[in-house]
Amino acid sequence: MAVNIQWFPGHMAKAIRQFEENISVVDIVFEILDARIPFSSMNPEVKRISGDKPHLYILTKKDLADPNRTQDWLRYFRENGQPAIAVDAKTKFGIKNVLEVIEPILADKLQRERDKGMKTRPIRAVSVGVPNVGKSTVLNRLVNRKAAQVGNRPGVTKGQQWMKSNNGELELLDTPGILWPKFANQELANKLALTGAVKETAYSSDDIALYALDFFREFSPKSIMERYHLNESALELTTVDLLMEITSKIGMKDDYMRSSERIIQDVRSNKLRPFTLDLVSEVESNDD
Ligand code: G4P
Repeated sequence: MAVNIQWFPGHMAKAIRQFEENISVVDIVFEILDARIPFSSMNPEVKRISGDKPHLYILTKKDLADPNRTQDWLRYFRENGQPAIAVDAKTKFGIKNVLEVIEPILADKLQRERDKGMKTRPIRAVSVGVPNVGKSTVLNRLVNRKAAQVGNRPGVTKGQQWMKSNNGELELLDTPGILWPKFANQELANKLALTGAVKETAYSSDDIALYALDFFREFSPKSIMERYHLNESALELTTVDLLMEITSKIGMKDDYMRSSERIIQDVRSNKLRPFTLDLVSEVESNDD
């Protein structure tokens, strides 16, 4: 079935090309994932381009995600031999672990260089992630953007700036937020839109609000009832009627586009409750 949300402007195609050009000069890729959609925010282009290059998944917005499901995801990555950490980038929670996690991953490579008589050098990383995932927030925690740009490097696209961590152990290259040319299905597109990775003009707010209501009706009916002062009977309505009921309850008469935007904002800003849209069990059943 056709997917009615797609967003892949030219600047993303360019950013992917730059990522491809830079991959050979870095030791490790930091792929920033949204803890609410760790699987759906994984960019297939990044996987294709980075191949066997060591990879650290940094799950941001841990504070907005369902803690049990975050643990499931961390376990899933661990079981698949894939280093991953979850952070609340706004409060720095978990960020200091980044260096601790990557040192053992790269220890052999750095030791081989020392054995050849090469000087100890900073670890070089490139960071990549979908728009709005929290990439800048994470980077600002890891590096000192203003003071320590280290200039261009051979083999790296001109004009791109390396940033250095305060202790000098890490050099990081940033990439603008990127998606990929075609979303595989509507569910994936809805998840990216609801969590804020897709530009607002690329989707219709009522579609995404309906998707959110369907999810929360299953996952946490109480949180919708409390937030929008609904009776239990409202949960028996069709999703469209539920949206209309909420529209009226929050004083927007029948302006369901405005109430849809409000619902989306409420979901994103944790006014309902922390949630995770991707389930490990779904991915595991596809892996089989
Ligand atoms: P980007 O570079 O990937 O585009 O994302 P950016 O860091 O700009 O973050 C996008 C939004 O997500 C920001 O909110 C940021 O504060 C928020 N954010 C990033 N990491 C976390 C996190 O771990 N937890 C939470 N709760 N939020 C996070 P904003 O609304 O655009 O700005 P503001 O609220 O910070 O003013």
